[in-house]
Amino acid sequence: MKKIAILTRDCAGVNAAIRSVVRTASKHGMEVVGIIRGYDGLIDGELTPLDHRSVSGIINKGGTILKTSRSKRFYEESGQEQASKTIHENNIDGLIVIGGNGSLTGAHILATKYHIPVVGIPATIDNDVTGVDLALGADTAVNVALDALDKIRDTATSLERIFIVEVMGRCCGYIALNVALAGGCEEVLVPEKDSNLDEMCREIQEGNEKGKVSWIVIVAEGKAKGSDIAEIITNKTGLETRVAVLGHIQRGGRPTAIDRLLGARLGNHAVNVLKDGLTDHCVGFKDGKYFTVPLSESIQPKEIDVDGYYRLIKILT
Ligand code: F6P
Repeated sequence: MKKIAILTRDCAGVNAAIRSVVRTASKHGMEVVGIIRGYDGLIDGELTPLDHRSVSGIINKGGTILKTSRSKRFYEESGQEQASKTIHENNIDGLIVIGGNGSLTGAHILATKYHIPVVGIPATIDNDVTGVDLALGADTAVNVALDALDKIRDTATSLERIFIVEVMGRCCGYIALNVALAGGCEEVLVPEKDSNLDEMCREIQEGNEKGKVSWIVIVAEGKAKGSDIAEIITNKTGLETRVAVLGHIQRGGRPTAIDRLLGARLGNHAVNVLKDGLTDHCVGFKDGKYFTVPLSESIQPKEIDVDGYYRLIKILT
């Protein structure tokens, strides 16, 4: 394998992974090109050479130096064909795709339909890649949200208020559950679980009557809008509420040590397994060991022990 390409989504730890891929590949004597703007760039043939020096000073940076896109064109067969043409015309022998479910689904298509050797590196703040304990970006996102939550708690406690904090997670409650548990929150609402809002409002009202006057409710964006939950609580309890929507601050920012270490490890392992002939898999690292998961499995909906989180949150509040 003489030449490989990297395609990315954005989240903390991705630059650490790019650096690791480039430097590992260089040690193997391979040429590396970066694909600018994700799958749109692959379709349009937007490539940039990457070498040891071009990835200096990026390990501590959020986002992706390669830029990215939510490519609508790649959903179409014509876009996929054009993308595979870019790979062939540029004599690229293998591709490393760093991203979440959507990006890894694209990687799976390129590997199976167009027979391009592809290895994925899971990177998503939603941490919803099946078979992989921790994706790049998830640890930073939880820490960023937790930091914001701690600040909100200062006001919630001082003013004895009910706060609804909306966190990211379109289809999954990973950030919400972890932030709720680590932040000592009273309630959490996630897409994976039906919620009984009447019961939640009753608990808040009863708590209020007994003197528990500040509450923090975490809601994943895929479950409901924070403002809608606030309105329900106010209507049912008569209590005043405030809403904070954390949004994209959760996806950016300086990667935690965990994300940098994971980026370094997964980038290195991805190049090694791709070079050894593995394709249509993504890489992971847990308990000191590297592993790989078929992409067909990793893109399936991830199961998360939501009830376990709920039980513990209830015991601890
Ligand atoms: O998939 C990661 C994620 O940050 C989700 O949590 C969120 O719903 C979505 O991306 C937001 O996407 P965009 O940045 O395209 O609006």
